[in-house]
Amino acid sequence: MNAYAELIGGRDVIVCCGTGGVGKTTTAAATAVAAARSGKRAVVVTIDPAKRLADALGIAELGNTPTEIAGPWPGKLAALMLDTKSTFDDVVRRHAHDDHQAERILSNRFYRNVSGTLSGTQDYMAVEKLSELYDSGDWDLVVVDTPPTRDALAFLEAPKLLARLLDNPIYRIVTAPSRGVFRAVNSAAQTVLRQLARVVGATVVDEAVAFFQAFEGMEDGFRDRANATLKLLGDQRTAFVLVASPRADTLMEARYFLDRIRTADLDAAAVVVNRVLPSVSTSPERATELVRSLAGTQAAGAAVALADLAGSGAEDQSRIHEITDAAPDAIMVQVPLLADDVHDLDGLATIADLLTAD
Ligand SMILES: Nc1ncnc2c1ncn2[C@@H]1O[C@H](COP(=O)(O)OP(=O)(O)OP(=O)(O)O)[C@@H](O)[C@H]1O
Ligand SMILES: [Mg+2]
Repeated sequence: MNAYAELIGGRDVIVCCGTGGVGKTTTAAATAVAAARSGKRAVVVTIDPAKRLADALGIAELGNTPTEIAGPWPGKLAALMLDTKSTFDDVVRRHAHDDHQAERILSNRFYRNVSGTLSGTQDYMAVEKLSELYDSGDWDLVVVDTPPTRDALAFLEAPKLLARLLDNPIYRIVTAPSRGVFRAVNSAAQTVLRQLARVVGATVVDEAVAFFQAFEGMEDGFRDRANATLKLLGDQRTAFVLVASPRADTLMEARYFLDRIRTADLDAAAVVVNRVLPSVSTSPERATELVRSLAGTQAAGAAVALADLAGSGAEDQSRIHEITDAAPDAIMVQVPLLADDVHDLDGLATIADLLTAD
């Protein structure tokens, strides 16, 4: 068993992060496949998988609840595609005191705008989904894919999003006590609201006020949940897996992500370097020699191609050493560039093999 397989065996939650297009969705799905093969009940929360992969996982139509995927494994494999909007609705329903409060919020226009567009909402809902699946007790491992983002902190900060929303001045105004010494404050607040209404329109303000009023009494539930999730993400139940590529531009970003994960006191347990060029046994020097000696012959083209590959492969390896130096404690796994996109279960099984090979 290699170290990555051991990681899969030992954790309850694996979060795959990294910059755009490096292979987060692929790695997350393949990690869940590897877990199912080792007998675990694994579920992967994917974010916007390529259409063909979504088809292969059976989640192209259904989305937000786990769809089980049949396959030759002793464990259980399920996938879902995160639907930010309906996850947010579920969260509201869960925390509302009764159906009436839930409906008041869900039908509010301000809520409907905010729940789809607020920056960080997708990350927040990925985290919500993760805790929902974890709490259900149905899964031994929850693997979470993360949205393409340049801001590594977005996901880590996600549980605090609602707390930030509740720091909104409108929320503080509408929930401020309106009696006694606070009365003056509140009437000043009303003035602010009136001024705001002149700028953004009275309807917008009315809707926002109605939203925050409907929200009253739910903050504690949200905050408790955010704290429980932060604890889950922060302790040994959770491993962060940084997906990177050996290209020069993404290497810088990988180091940045590593820094952020560490600064947030989270466990960057593994680095998956994806799409590594195959290593050739010919050294770049020897390949250059061949180019010279075979020039003008029929093998000239092949020699040039070999020299290219040997050169780029050697560059990849030296960049991979840089990542290793930046994360000496993390498990390092290299996944080669495959000839084809990974768009079906066979492709995922191949990546799962590569991730867990000795
Ligand atoms: N080792 C590999 N060899 C060949 N193709 C790969 C490999 N890994 C991933 N791919 C392909 O690269 C593309 C991007 O991968 P993927 O969607 O997993 O990246 P991502 O990090 O999730 O992207 P985004 O940031 O846009 O969500 C996909 O078409 C996938 O099939
Ligand atoms: Mg993706």
